[in-house]
Amino acid sequence: VLVGRDAELAVLDALMTQARAGAGGVVLLTGEPGAGKTRLARAAAGRAAGATVSWGACRESEGAPPLWPWTQVLRRLGGPGITAGAAEGGAARLSPV
Ligand SMILES: Nc1ncnc2c1ncn2[C@@H]1O[C@H](COP(=O)(O)OP(=O)(O)OP(=O)(O)O)[C@@H](O)[C@H]1O
Ligand SMILES: [Mg+2]
Repeated sequence: VLVGRDAELAVLDALMTQARAGAGGVVLLTGEPGAGKTRLARAAAGRAAGATVSWGACRESEGAPPLWPWTQVLRRLGGPGITAGAAEGGAARLSPV
């Protein structure tokens, strides 16, 4: 059971409705470790009937490729291959392969 997230789910449902109408965007969920960010995101995704949902996640250990979560998201959507170029000066860029 998801406890105490009705208000957040209502906001996310409304944003999903907007996204279906073509007004996409980015939502950032922030909170302490274990606060329930992933759980809320999964609940919101589960309510988005018919929508395609793609997940990516950071690794807790070091050594992940640059932009790794986004590489996973795009790969799982099955589109053209995308790779993250080497980081230069702290910045990396996704490029088609
Ligand atoms: N609203 C909630 N109701 C019930 N259980 C919850 C709720 N929020 C989180 N939990 C439970 O608490 C635990 C931690 O939640 P979750 O993994 O979503 O946290 P997180 O913010 O994503 O943590 P991290 O920053 O480490 O990724 C999980 O077992 C999750 O199911
Ligand atoms: Mg999490």
